[in-house]
This record gives sequence, C-alpha cells and structure tokens, in this order.
Amino acid sequence: MRTQIAIIGAGPSGLLLGQLLHNAGIDNVIIERRSAAYVLGRIRAGVLEEGTVRLLREAGAGARMDAEGIVHAGVQLAFGGISRRVDLGAHANGRTVLVYGQTEMTRDLMEAREAAGALTLYEVDDTQIHGADSAHPALTFTLNGQRERLECDYIAGCDGFRGISRSTIPDSIRREYEKVYPFGWLGLLSDTAPVSHEIVYGAHDRGFSLCSMRSMTRSRYYIEVPLDEKVDDWSDDRFWDELRRRLPEPYASELVTGPSLEKSIAGLRSFVVEPMQYGRLFLVGDAAHIVPPTGAKGLNLAASDVNYLYRILLKVYREKREDLLLKYSSLCLDRIWKAERFSWWMTSMLHRLSDNPFDHRIQLAELDYFTGSTEGLQTIARNYVGLPYAAVD
Ligand code: APR
Ligand code: PHB
Repeated sequence: MRTQIAIIGAGPSGLLLGQLLHNAGIDNVIIERRSAAYVLGRIRAGVLEEGTVRLLREAGAGARMDAEGIVHAGVQLAFGGISRRVDLGAHANGRTVLVYGQTEMTRDLMEAREAAGALTLYEVDDTQIHGADSAHPALTFTLNGQRERLECDYIAGCDGFRGISRSTIPDSIRREYEKVYPFGWLGLLSDTAPVSHEIVYGAHDRGFSLCSMRSMTRSRYYIEVPLDEKVDDWSDDRFWDELRRRLPEPYASELVTGPSLEKSIAGLRSFVVEPMQYGRLFLVGDAAHIVPPTGAKGLNLAASDVNYLYRILLKVYREKREDLLLKYSSLCLDRIWKAERFSWWMTSMLHRLSDNPFDHRIQLAELDYFTGSTEGLQTIARNYVGLPYAAVD
C-alpha cells in the first residue's frame, strides 16, 4: 500500500488532520489500534476554542457542532463561598468558547471520513515505524492476522500519550518534561440539568470541583480526589454530597442530582516532548503533550498542532515549501508551552495543594486578585478562549 500521509491513531488529532488533508486532495490512510466503537466510548472534555471550531468547519464536519454546540461567553470561578464571572467576551475581544463534547466531534469526523470514502484501518496490531529519518518512510502493522506495509511521504504520529511514535525520536535528541500531580479527578456524567448555564470551576478547602455540561439536559461534574481513591468506593450519593459541600450558594441548593451514566477517576499530568519532529515523522496532539484538564486545553492543543501540520503540508505539496517542515516543532511548541503554563497555573490555583491552611489562603488571595481586577480577568479570559495561531510562512 502507498499513500502520501500515513496517520497513526484515529482520535481527534488523526481524524481532523486526515479530513483536512483529504479535502485538500492530499491522500492519507489512518491506522488505529482500537475499534471505532471503542474510540467513541471514551468520554473526554468538551470545550472548543474558536480556532478548533473553525478547523472543524474547514474540515467540512462542523454542521452538527454548529447546530448543537452551546456558545459560552463566560465562565465562573467559585471560591470563599462566592462565585465570580469571567466575562470572556468583554475581556478577550468578544471571543467565546463552544461547549460540544469531544466524543461528538470524533463521531462527526468519523462520519465525514466515511462519507468521503477515505480509508481508516481499525484494530491493527504491532504498528512499527520504518525509516522516519529517510526519504522513504513506511509503517508496518498486522491487520486480520496479516502483516501489511504502508509506504508514504510523511508520517503523522497522532497516537496519543501511550502511542509508539514518540519513542521513535532517538534518546539523544528527545527531551521530555513532566509533572505528575498528587491528585485525580473523579468525574460523573448524568442526564440532569446543569447547575449553572456556565461552567463553574471551584476552589474549596475540601478540594477542587468542576460543574460542566454536554447539553442543557446532560451534566458533567468532577471533584478532586486523592490519587489512591477507588471509584467503587464512590456511590452516586456520596459523589453528589461531596460536590454539594464544595459549591457556594445558590449552586449547592440548586444542584439537581440523578443516576450516573459514567463515573471514572483520571490522574492529572503535565507533559511535553521536544522536538515534535524527527525526519519525516511529526508528533501531533497527546502523543507530544499532556495538560491537566483544568482550563480545557487538551483537545484544543491537539487542534492547533493539526492546524500547523496541515498548513505546512499544503504548502509542501502545492508550493514545494519543504523548508517549512523544519518549522513545525517550534510553531507548535510556542503555543503549547503557554497552554501548559495556563493549565498548570489554573490547576495550582484551584486544587488542594497541601494540608497547610497558608497555601489555601494564598489561593484565595490569588483568585480574588485575578477575578477582581481588569488585568487579572484579561489574563484568564484570553488564555481560556485560546491564544492566537501564528501564521505559517
Ligand atoms: N497504532 C495505532 N493506533 C494507536 C497506537 C498504535 N500503536 N497507539 C495508540 N493508538 C490510537 C489510540 O487507540 C487512540 O485512538 O491513537 C489514538 C490517539 O487518540 P487520543 O488519545 O484521543 O489522542 P489525540 O487524537 O491526540 O486527541 C487529543 O487531547 O487532551 C486530549 O482529551 C483530549 O483525547 C484528546 C486529545
Ligand atoms: C468537561 O466538560 O468535561 C470539562 C470542561 C472543562 C474542563 C475540563 C473538562 O476544564
């Protein structure tokens, strides 16, 4: 088999890149370790920056998002018994975010790809990368018990944090930066009306909480828990009681509870690999970086990597601008490190960092300062809606 771009991974990164390239007439094949149903079963975040929204439209997969996504012009930061609104529009030049589940975005991209007749090979095993630093890279993998070879011009490693692409970059060149946080998020999904029409990030001396949503009838809530906590120890009632204790009024008394559709614990991590390119291999999305979910940057960073790689490849094929390939890593990393900083800062400001009450009072002062001053609100709002993309040239 031969294609122009071989894409490893059918998560949001691989699917979005594949669809943009396909529409531009650049042939690509996606190989994915799991089944389509498995990929769609993963519940992830759901806040899209305008740049992500534009890319999905450009990929021709934005119709349902435009019909069903909910524009949010503000977010709430709750602390010390009150909740303060960050007016995104007012403090970030009229920009807003769109609440639309990553699972839905993935489904739309899968459907668009199928309608376009582009090839995705699901349930492949033992993916291997060959000749990444040569002029003739290739992938080999097992499909239906048979070993296959896919030759290509370039490889996009969109295979997530636990994929194989990253380790193809030799140790002598690869640098990894990591911070693992000593707490996790216990998440619950329920068919109940959200407690607020805006997302609420809460700091409390019992720990962080987050009230989010997928629609006006489906809510997504999280509470910070110790890393060794077991999800089986958390009945729905225990979850709702703990969440309620961490919320200020009127949210605490207005919280609508109901049976959980899903409940799980996820650890929090910050991670970046440099560089994101090795020869003809390009790392995209979670394969190259992880952020803690506080700030909703994970999916949006994946989209900004896709944006850069797509625009570079367009110029490579249309204008023979091979020189741009060497710019991919630094274009991405410039934006990634700023989003890493924002996610780390939001995490540090909102979670229970220690048993020392001093730390908690410092957090309250920081929250009061940032939500109580124009410059503070601008800092939060401009980072939350997403920093601008750099031009590719
Ligand atoms: N061969 C083929 N596919 C693989 C391999 C492999 N060796 N290893 C992993 N994959 C697949 C995974 O099964 C998964 O479907 O790659 C895909 C990677 O998808 P994601 O983990 O969703 O990563 P990405 O597409 O970069 O999505 C961006 O940002 O913060 C997050 O929640 C956000 O998941 C979202 C991510
Ligand atoms: C979510 O809706 O799942 C969500 C929202 C905002 C975040 C993280 C997760 O920062």
